[in-house]
Amino acid sequence: MLLPFEYLMPTRIVYGEGAIVGTGKEIKDLKGKKPILVTDQGVAALPFFESIKESLAGAGLEFEVYDTVSRDPDLSEIDELVALVKDRKCDSVIALGGGSVLCAGKGLAVTAPSGGSSRNLVGLHLVKEQPLPMIAIPTTAGSGSEVSDVIVLSDMESNRIVTIISHHCYPGLTILDPELLADLPPKQFSMSGVDALAHGMESLMTTRPNPISEGIAVYACATLIRELREASLTNEIEPKARCLIASSMTNMACGATGINFGHAMILPMTAHLKMPHGLAAGLLLPHVTAYNLPASRKRLAPLMQALGYDTELEPDLIVDELADLVTDLGFGAFELPEVDIATLKSMAEEVANSPITTGNVRKVESDHVLAIYKSVFVNTLKD
Ligand SMILES: [Fe+2]
Repeated sequence: MLLPFEYLMPTRIVYGEGAIVGTGKEIKDLKGKKPILVTDQGVAALPFFESIKESLAGAGLEFEVYDTVSRDPDLSEIDELVALVKDRKCDSVIALGGGSVLCAGKGLAVTAPSGGSSRNLVGLHLVKEQPLPMIAIPTTAGSGSEVSDVIVLSDMESNRIVTIISHHCYPGLTILDPELLADLPPKQFSMSGVDALAHGMESLMTTRPNPISEGIAVYACATLIRELREASLTNEIEPKARCLIASSMTNMACGATGINFGHAMILPMTAHLKMPHGLAAGLLLPHVTAYNLPASRKRLAPLMQALGYDTELEPDLIVDELADLVTDLGFGAFELPEVDIATLKSMAEEVANSPITTGNVRKVESDHVLAIYKSVFVNTLKD
């Protein structure tokens, strides 16, 4: 029997090579008169950043620039941005970057009209005001934040990753331009792409599936598994474009079903060990899938079929497929932090008690989590 479900995707998506030249016109169409362009130092140094500024100037727009977004921005950084926007009288937001930048831009867009701190909006459906008009332009194929109702931020006070979740958090428009990914270093491409794949896999291994999200996730996960090597490790634009679109799609899927076990394990790794989100996602993906497999064979069959497997004879090869992918992308050679067993145990408890894991297809106990953490940190584990 199908469970009741809801599917919402209000973000307009514009795809095209060179599509960012239309940014100025698009923000004007959204009634933005004086946008703030939000990005980080890495993106601000790239040639396409100038193209966006030219597009805004070409549309006759005055605009401000904030180009120092931190990785996993803190709530206080959002409040600083809100003060800047108020001071400079900006009325709209263009966020250009990876997941951290997009979340900073979305955090700004929902907090500015609220009249208070972003901290007041942390939680579920606490955003009451219409957000500032916003365009999200991803420069990685990964976070999916450009089509999501979730804003992920850091809270240094509690040393945790926190989320603002509301229908108001969807950007009005996202521009998907694969040319922005042309010079992304392979490591960065791999880490963000595997994060996108984890979003789709978790959506498939949920207790709350629905036919719309399953259809999207199967197509997008198959695309990412097939294309990520070439997209990350070569200069070919077509596989990069396919991964960019697939990364938005996997977030549309997990937006409807929720993320679960994998991301419950990623969050302590980013908060306590300061590891990049995508690095954690890639290291965990084969382990989490293997753990969930006994409860997921039927659910994963359409993905296996899309990849050309005989699901009668080869039902478990998805784990090998994922392990081979992350190995080929170089995850085995990426540097990991040293960690002691007490920290891993406390992280495992955090995961087992996380409300995120309730949506996982197989029940999660702290012993299972600890076993996976030990496998991931086998070479950097201290007593
Ligand atoms: Fe993620």
